[in-house]
Amino acid sequence: MPVMGRLTIGDVDLAGKKVLCRVDFNVPIKGGVITDDTRIQAALPTIQALSGTVLALCSHFGRPKGKVDPAQSLKPCAARLSELLGKPVTFLDDCVGDTVAAAVAAARPGDVLLLENTRFHAEEESKDEAARAKFAAQLAAPFEAYVNDAFGSSHRKHASVYDVAAILKPAVAGLLMEKEVAALHKLMSQPQQGFVALLGGAKVDDKIGVLRALLARCEKVLVGGAMAWAFFKARGYDIGASLSTPESLAAARELIDDPAVDLSRMLLPTDCVMRFRWGSGRQIKAVPVTMMRPGWSAVDIGACTAATFCAEVLAAKAVFWNGPMGLFEVPPYDMGTFAVAHAVADCAGYTVVGGGDSIAAVEQAGVADRIDHISTGGGASLEFIEFGSLPGIDALNPEN
Ligand code: 3PG
Repeated sequence: MPVMGRLTIGDVDLAGKKVLCRVDFNVPIKGGVITDDTRIQAALPTIQALSGTVLALCSHFGRPKGKVDPAQSLKPCAARLSELLGKPVTFLDDCVGDTVAAAVAAARPGDVLLLENTRFHAEEESKDEAARAKFAAQLAAPFEAYVNDAFGSSHRKHASVYDVAAILKPAVAGLLMEKEVAALHKLMSQPQQGFVALLGGAKVDDKIGVLRALLARCEKVLVGGAMAWAFFKARGYDIGASLSTPESLAAARELIDDPAVDLSRMLLPTDCVMRFRWGSGRQIKAVPVTMMRPGWSAVDIGACTAATFCAEVLAAKAVFWNGPMGLFEVPPYDMGTFAVAHAVADCAGYTVVGGGDSIAAVEQAGVADRIDHISTGGGASLEFIEFGSLPGIDALNPEN
């Protein structure tokens, strides 16, 4: 079925073809060990559906800034993918050039290859369109078709996500892309009444666009975490030593001053948990947001706010959640984040969670299996909500 008017692997016959498939294998790796293989598992349906092709997977990993960095190699992903598929996966130490061309030419349908990190080449991310297009042509050279299954990277106008789709025909969406887009479409088609968004995390400036989009679409937008402290500072409150950047403050001010934005839909915390470091120890106090203490920093939403946010979420018909309510990786500042994680899981409406920290929170809270859709894309899901599509989707072949 087409995705947003773009062809998918179900619409074309790729059997026997040499296929380049962009996946998002930007997984957490510590000391060479993959600590969470969700993104590799999420690509399996497409890889299995393409089992009649010569399949080469490409992806970025980390941010090596155009330099070869063995610590940011995709090699550990080849080993994990091979275990999951139960067959060999050939790892190639570059994504372009003669070695790739020779390996693809020698491969048989059913073979799976994983190419090295596309970001080892500066042209992958270049702002210079001609440089990017030239690199995309090198990437495309050994292949006859392109599949984009990298939803999590499709907000990036990069050569392996965007430009290569203008060269290889057909250029179609994979099954993960189809699933992600269907879920976000369903979310954004919910009636305004009963549609609640929950936003948190550190930076308002990164999320100002999606916040505007959600304020226009939702009945309520609940804002917690350091995003909220920026709004308090913009309103002239003393937020003590709470996390706040000049960019976040400017973004909060811009939104507050915009007469076109209906801020009555935005709910901010009424209380918070504050921490004060004292030598090697610390003191903790729950205070109303009007009484934040100089020198202290807010590290979580307070119990009253958590109760209000949870009640809103539980009563909702649809919920989107991105960003923690506080410093949840440091107990006991996880109370607010875990409370909302449980509320999202208990909500009877349609629930979508996106973004690394919120996903970690639902997993740590043990409720991930009770969320309707967990997006593999953090930034990508936010940009999809803001703009209604992504460059990596728009670049694929239209259905007519
Ligand atoms: C992600 O982890 O959100 C995607 O893989 C995109 O990574 P990037 O932010 O480094 O482009």
